[in-house]
Amino acid sequence: MRIFNKSLKLIKLVVLLLFTQALTAGEGMWLPLLLESLNEDEMKNMGLKLSAEDIYSVNKSSLKDAIVHFGGFCTAEVISNKGLLLTNHHCGYGQIQSHTTLENNYLRDGFWAMKKEEELANPGLFARFILRMEDVSDDMLAGVTDDMDSQKRQSIIDKNMEMVRAKYEQDLPAYDDIVIRPFYHGNEYYMFVTRTFNDVRLVGAPPESVGKYGSDTDNWVWPRHTGDFAMFRIYAGPDNLPADYSPDNKPYVPKHSLPISVDGVEEGDFTMVFGFPGRTTSYLPASAVKQTVEVLNPAKINIRETALDIIDKYMRVDPQVKIQYASKFARVANYWKKWIGESQGIEATDGIGKKLEMEKEFLSRLNKSPELKSKYGNLLSDFEKLYKDIEPYAKSRDYYNEVVFRNVEILRAVSLSDRLVSALENNGEEGYKNMKQRLTSGFYNGFYKDYRPEIDQEVCAALMELYKKNVPFKGLTSPLDKMTNTRDGMGDYTSMAKKLYGSSFFTSESDFEEVMGMAPEEAVAKIKADPLYTFMEGMKAQYSEIVEGKYNAYNDQITEKQRLYMKALMEVFPEKRMYPDANSTMRITYGKVNGYHPRDAVYYTPVTYLDGAMAKYKPGDYEFDMPAKLIELYEKKDYGRYAADNGKMPICFIGTNHTTGGNSGSPAIDANGNLIGLNFDRAWEGTMSDINYDPSICRNIMVDARYILFIVDKFAGATHLTYEMNLVTPKKMANATHTPPIIDKGKRKKGKSKIKVKGPDPKQ
Ligand code: ARG
Ligand code: GLU
Repeated sequence: MRIFNKSLKLIKLVVLLLFTQALTAGEGMWLPLLLESLNEDEMKNMGLKLSAEDIYSVNKSSLKDAIVHFGGFCTAEVISNKGLLLTNHHCGYGQIQSHTTLENNYLRDGFWAMKKEEELANPGLFARFILRMEDVSDDMLAGVTDDMDSQKRQSIIDKNMEMVRAKYEQDLPAYDDIVIRPFYHGNEYYMFVTRTFNDVRLVGAPPESVGKYGSDTDNWVWPRHTGDFAMFRIYAGPDNLPADYSPDNKPYVPKHSLPISVDGVEEGDFTMVFGFPGRTTSYLPASAVKQTVEVLNPAKINIRETALDIIDKYMRVDPQVKIQYASKFARVANYWKKWIGESQGIEATDGIGKKLEMEKEFLSRLNKSPELKSKYGNLLSDFEKLYKDIEPYAKSRDYYNEVVFRNVEILRAVSLSDRLVSALENNGEEGYKNMKQRLTSGFYNGFYKDYRPEIDQEVCAALMELYKKNVPFKGLTSPLDKMTNTRDGMGDYTSMAKKLYGSSFFTSESDFEEVMGMAPEEAVAKIKADPLYTFMEGMKAQYSEIVEGKYNAYNDQITEKQRLYMKALMEVFPEKRMYPDANSTMRITYGKVNGYHPRDAVYYTPVTYLDGAMAKYKPGDYEFDMPAKLIELYEKKDYGRYAADNGKMPICFIGTNHTTGGNSGSPAIDANGNLIGLNFDRAWEGTMSDINYDPSICRNIMVDARYILFIVDKFAGATHLTYEMNLVTPKKMANATHTPPIIDKGKRKKGKSKIKVKGPDPKQ
């Protein structure tokens, strides 16, 4: 009896623990299609007031109809029934920059179209909706068996793909497409029908001192005070369907647009984030994670740090360099910082130890089932061996990519000239001319404007020395050894770089243009004789001979094992609900507004305020300067209706939602389906969530919707845009019997909101 009582208590405890875990855990990037079967109950327990059908439905309008893949690299959402889109400033950065001139410096001063005619077209930018998705695993995997080798398997899948495509592509209009993607590492396949709009115009962006406030210093960091948002608008043809750009196009009327809640958030509130996360690797074996943390991340961090230190030194003393290198520096620093946080986070949460623990349980379960054991018994030891085998090749590959392709700038310019050589050799003068046109209007067009050979030369010397010292195969550095006249790695890299840069035409814009002005034969002869070109070709040849083939062969084997391992995990742990790794398809993640302990005795609360931005303000600084108007509004506490209940102006908040790159611009949505914030980053301590999500420190960072509205309305005076939006106050309507429902067909439900629109839209 006592034993029974004890075990009952234990069961209760376990249930309680599981339940509490379910209430706070935010891990998982779920397929909207499967919410009803996998997530709806948990989401409701956490506070969701909508049904899975309100979020994703094929038959009626649902939240998913307001979400777009923005340019293929970010997410954006529709926030008015006139196709107004909200995304991040850093997602629209390229477009804002492309419209920026000395007279109209939109990056520095911001941009606001005061009427629709002022909205700016962006050739090449698209907004892509998902019309529906379907599980096509049975069709895609028909005829495939487990004992096939990977080539045979792939050839069957390729054939199946053609058939599935043909089946779904029938009667699709030109602006709709079929996308079929593998999930769970190739164990399942889903098909997406997409609709793409190509007329997407810039509507507004705050100045960088708001949209990028804190820049690199604050990047990946909580507490944060960045208003990282921008607005665009989708335009459609007269039938509301996608059309090429035309001044006659009309604002798109969406199937759904997100109402915006001005109630704000507090710790514990339910949140979900809807978007297009790019890539995660949540199901790696411990051996792989160990390699990332112990070998690959340190190598990449070291290379980038060496380059960044040199660039930073020049940026600090020369304001011109600061402008030229700001954006390049930010790009290199972004993942440098992320990898450091990732490695530290895995260490801090014992990520490898936890994987090993799980693998122990995996093996012990295999041992109880001869059938499972015969299928999966060797997987972990195979991984162990494969990761060991691939290690020197993987390390060489990272070194090569980071040094030769990424961080020595001139080598990318040199490497592209290879295309001119092969264009002439393969396609004659006509081919050469086409390629030259493409390259000179593309990469080379902006390259020299922001290029300083003296900085790059120093970077080259430092990185080549690292390359020499660290790549595991001697042969990889033979072109370097020739130049430094040494076999012991102690060569004079500074003189080597000086010689290379001094004698190449690539390092000078005028010399480069002279060569581009020559007849094709002559130009190609010049390219081929250039010392940087021959150096680059030598490095490339050694790499492809020693590393490339081997790396690919091992990697193919790892990919195949990983597919089996994913399958095994799902079979061996049937009680665990597993989400597919991110693959740039539409996903939902949900969690709660929640602070965290970054280290012992420190707790970070989940909301920041304008007061915090003011505390960091450094007049004239390129990261922490603030616009005069914003300071004035702060001093007068002139926040309009957007202030929090405590009278302060909120800027950002964090939650336990599981996000990654590609989720930038994703809406943070409350329990009722209203937009409460805009996702743009993660907190540094938890950037290992791509490999090993841990609810204790993984947090996504969002701009508070109220700050966005405040900047648009009070700061920029673009009040007319707020008239288009549907502002609601679900929390304040505490006595309402139900919450604002989804608004169908873009029609605003009158009387649901306590906040009334201020006046007529001047454009209506
Ligand atoms: N860390 C964010 C992301 O991964 C923001 C990057 C842009 N901002 C920057 N300072 N580099 O995209
Ligand atoms: N800033 C990232 C992006 O552009 C999102 C942050 C993250 O990686 O979570 O997608």
